[in-house]
Amino acid sequence: MDIISSKNVINIIRKTLNLIDDRLIHHGERVSYILNKMLLYENKYTEKQILSYTVTALLHDIGAYKNEELDKMIQFETDDVWRHSIYGYLFLKYLSPLADMADIVLYHHLDYFILSELNCPHEVIAGYLNLADRIDICLMHSKNVDFDRLFLEYGQVKFSKEVIDTFKKADKELHILSNIRNNTYLEELNRIFEKIIFTPKEKEEFLKMLIYSIDFRSEYTVMHTITTVSIADEIGKIMRLGEYDRNILHYGALLHDIGKITTPVPILEAPRKLTPEEMKIMKNHVWMSEYILKDYINKDILEIAIRHHEKLDGSGYHRKLTGKDLNVSQRILAVADIISALCGKRSYKDTFHKETVLNIISKDSAAGKICPEIVKCAVRYFDEIMDNVYRDTYEPLNIYTDMKIKYNDLYKKLYSLN
Ligand SMILES: [Fe+2]
Ligand SMILES: [Fe+2]
Ligand SMILES: [Fe+2]
Repeated sequence: MDIISSKNVINIIRKTLNLIDDRLIHHGERVSYILNKMLLYENKYTEKQILSYTVTALLHDIGAYKNEELDKMIQFETDDVWRHSIYGYLFLKYLSPLADMADIVLYHHLDYFILSELNCPHEVIAGYLNLADRIDICLMHSKNVDFDRLFLEYGQVKFSKEVIDTFKKADKELHILSNIRNNTYLEELNRIFEKIIFTPKEKEEFLKMLIYSIDFRSEYTVMHTITTVSIADEIGKIMRLGEYDRNILHYGALLHDIGKITTPVPILEAPRKLTPEEMKIMKNHVWMSEYILKDYINKDILEIAIRHHEKLDGSGYHRKLTGKDLNVSQRILAVADIISALCGKRSYKDTFHKETVLNIISKDSAAGKICPEIVKCAVRYFDEIMDNVYRDTYEPLNIYTDMKIKYNDLYKKLYSLN
């Protein structure tokens, strides 16, 4: 069943990336546009290769979710660009269908004269990406940059002569800079991404990568989404939902907290009860999930995703719906989300034991907040549900631990290079 189109997977990624920081709006898109045009001009690569490189360029700053180094990143001369480059590399390598493109992201800020010594498998593309990225950073600062002067100054140091030449010729023929300046590049980029065809597995992998990159920002949310998906999948199975309903529940669960990209990490990590003002910011993630997903995903999935904090008695958010508005899949996700939060470690609490979890959800059910049948099912099959969680989180948890080790190793190794 085709639950989401390839184009809309890309659209969700684009929209989410644009929410990282106001200063980076459309940055990934412009960089991928510049790279795409350079490759097109060169006429050396297949269409499939060009599309893969273009998507890689779109994702090049995905590691910037993880840390607060944006100030540095958007200056031309930066002293530490490694953190987001390494995170981005690790996300691509371990969590995306673009694993063999990951070195492009790792080296996208490395000066040409060092890069050329490193035996990077995609040296040329990494060099193109570096130039495309810096061109856009310059355009973000001023619309009237003297690129010729800049290229003269940095030729053979930051960028190779060949890369600069390719850009100049491509710009002359394909009007890259003027299309960016007058914003027509966005339309063109839409048409480029329309050609992409992902397999169903690739679609899920890209969406998962996006969700991990959001959850991995904090130790306290690392496994939240994947645990929620696992619990929802298992309850859906036990309650014998049909294939379509189980499928949309799965995707609704996967995407439910995507709006948390806009929740500041200090709020996710506050070691105490949130103030009313902070709570408001926290609750806003549901609006943001709706904002990101609404044009790109089937309405059934959207409604599952954005109703996960609604309560049967109308005391939830964000629309204060009541039981009559909430179908079984939406009710399952609400329960799965609570169990996942209770079983996970949070800044303000440790993981809860089985009895405590069951106690809390039973009380919520008795108070008319969450669905009694679903709670009954969760209580009865709790061990099976948790076995499934253990199976589903085993690999991602290992990847996360591995990524942390690899991050430190790579950082030590690479920091001295630039
Ligand atoms: Fe970057
Ligand atoms: Fe960038
Ligand atoms: Fe949520």
